[in-house]
Amino acid sequence: MTLLITGSAGFIGANFVLDWFANHDEPAISLDKLTYAGNLQNLASLEGNPHHTFVHGDIGDTALVNRLLAEYRPRAVINFAAESHVDRSIRGPEDFIQTNIVGTFHLLESVRGYWGTLGAAEKSGFRFLHISTDEVYGSLAPTASAFTEQHPYQPNSPYSASKAASDHLVRAYHHTYGLPVLTTNCSNNYGPFHFPEKLIPLVIRNALAGEMLPIYGDGQQIRDWLYVRDHCSAIRRVLEAGQVGETYNVGGWNEKSNLDVVSRICDTLDQEAPRSDGRSYREQIRFVKDRPGHDRRYAIDATRLERELGWKPAETFESGIAKTVRWYLDNQDWVENVASGAYREWLNKQYT
Ligand code: NAD
Ligand code: TYD
Repeated sequence: MTLLITGSAGFIGANFVLDWFANHDEPAISLDKLTYAGNLQNLASLEGNPHHTFVHGDIGDTALVNRLLAEYRPRAVINFAAESHVDRSIRGPEDFIQTNIVGTFHLLESVRGYWGTLGAAEKSGFRFLHISTDEVYGSLAPTASAFTEQHPYQPNSPYSASKAASDHLVRAYHHTYGLPVLTTNCSNNYGPFHFPEKLIPLVIRNALAGEMLPIYGDGQQIRDWLYVRDHCSAIRRVLEAGQVGETYNVGGWNEKSNLDVVSRICDTLDQEAPRSDGRSYREQIRFVKDRPGHDRRYAIDATRLERELGWKPAETFESGIAKTVRWYLDNQDWVENVASGAYREWLNKQYT
């Protein structure tokens, strides 16, 4: 019994691997290309764990993936590997097409070949679990009901379009070849190891560095936030009991406007790490140019996962954000390590 976990050095993948070993001792092979978003420091606490093997490589490298599948014979593949940042997809979509679409296609082909060699029992027990996003459903009107699994796909950014394409490929490999797939579509995550190009970690970092807290447009866009460890418990549950060929929406019923999220972070920091001049971090908020094609609202209806698989998130937004702010305050060296030259270059391009 072994898992192959791709994208395991990124934000959610790393949290998942850590969560996995906190709950199981089943071995896991980690495969990650270590792009700017991948960081082996995220997995440092697993050093010396004989059940964990890290492999540096690309999901699109067929020879490598075939070798790993043949050697380790996993009972499941969990695919987190992706380019994940909407703003980067707007500035340069090509990597998104390459990894999210072409890479997922190559991975599916390798897995299909391997799955075809398994005996009957292993074959029916095998799972390919694809990690996706609520952004594939597009943008909701202010009073529209939250996205269910039946909501049509209407992706609006190169990122969400590339994720939608990968979801369709995964679906097609089930319908055409019978590959036992599962897909999860989760809302915005937050928590430890979140790369500081995304809203929540960027705001915490900038606040502490005395820099501006950039809010796109009017800040009234709504996202539905889930603490990353709750996403991990949902994935474990879907892997364990999800119905093959089905998709599961994952979310914690936590819709917040961006302005509310940023204000909440400022208030938490005002308590936990007050500015030396005694003023509020809210004074650092600046409204900046909006993101092109900015989706106004996402909201996930997680009823199916709750009802059919009995999953519930453990954190509220308030408890999760308090833990997250604490983690960033305690791990400022992690932030400094990821804030490389390339990261600074990105900030200059995006915010000046
Ligand atoms: P991330 O950008 O932090 O991490 C992605 C990881 O994938 C990195 O470690 C990177 O090195 C690796 N990677 C990229 N291209 C690769 C390739 N070709 N081969 C192997 N590894 C590669 O992203 P994340 O936030 O951890 O997201 C993980 C998955 O969850 C993605 O599929 C994303 O679409 C999905 N998702 C993210 C969120 C969110 O809020 N972050 C919400 C829902 C779903
Ligand atoms: P982000 O964390 O990039 O996630 P996503 O675009 O996948 O939802 O952004 C979350 C929200 O915050 C989104 O509406 C864009 C907004 N945002 C800002 O207002 N300012 C920023 O500097 C960033 C990075 C995002």
